[in-house]
Amino acid sequence: MPRAIGLSRVIYQAPDLDRMAGFMADFGLAVAARTADALYLRGTGTAPCIHATQRGAEPRFIAGAFQFAAREDLDALAAVPGSSAPERMDAPGGGLLVRMRLPGGERIDAVCDVAEAAPLPLRAPPPFNAGADKRRIDRPVRPRREPAAVLRIGHFVQRVRDHDATVAWLCRHFGLVPSDHLGIPGDPPKVIGTFLRLAGDGAPVDHHSMLVLDSSDPGVHHCSFEVQDVDAIMAAHEYLVERGHVLDCGVGRHLLGSQIFDYWRDPFGFRVEHYTDGDVVTAAHQPEVFTGTAGETTQWGMKPPPEFFA
Ligand SMILES: [Fe+2]
Repeated sequence: MPRAIGLSRVIYQAPDLDRMAGFMADFGLAVAARTADALYLRGTGTAPCIHATQRGAEPRFIAGAFQFAAREDLDALAAVPGSSAPERMDAPGGGLLVRMRLPGGERIDAVCDVAEAAPLPLRAPPPFNAGADKRRIDRPVRPRREPAAVLRIGHFVQRVRDHDATVAWLCRHFGLVPSDHLGIPGDPPKVIGTFLRLAGDGAPVDHHSMLVLDSSDPGVHHCSFEVQDVDAIMAAHEYLVERGHVLDCGVGRHLLGSQIFDYWRDPFGFRVEHYTDGDVVTAAHQPEVFTGTAGETTQWGMKPPPEFFA
């Protein structure tokens, strides 16, 4: 069975690539390549593209793409009903792409053979002087109010028509593993959301690379990008406010996954998240079904507005 080894990118369509590029420069993604019909953005890590926008009349989410280790994986996935044949990707880093269909018909992609890019400069995180553990000696903290350098894509959240079948499909075909669930109270609870992580090779992995939400309105809920630390989150928050961008919800700390989060809206209304200090887990992690209220999914900080849960 093929196993995804990483989240590669998210792909959107939008009518104005200049507006997308302008916002994303303030958000902290760098232009990897630009053509008349496509905008490819990267972080400071070695992934050559983590956010792509294709020019088109209607703003819409096209797909998330997971990365696989070998061509054989893509050949196996191309044999799954609803999949395309492997095709060359015309994007930074090149590579091969298979377009697939989740059980509800939503598109998801598999890629391999994407060439790594040279990493971009990134400031190191200063040690943190906790109350009982002072690690930063004779050294002040001087964060600048500037775009947060995004390191990498962390996860995306997809609303789907058939939650249970989609989760089973992703576990079977991509080797993803449930980390935790969202449920409606009952005996047993009705599961309406599942956080999925990479199977990994024994090393800790992000608590989730994807969240699947049951919905009658399929599409993306948000995509999320990791930044260095709390200073990066907060300084970027101030910078984005000053630049007149639309705050969605933040700053706060999630319950499931524990991330410190900050959500913004891109010029086309898509929700994009900065996060830091998320959980990483191993096979020792025990999944739970969370049946608390929407408000309880935020431990501290700004509570998401009702439309966040729509
Ligand atoms: Fe998120």
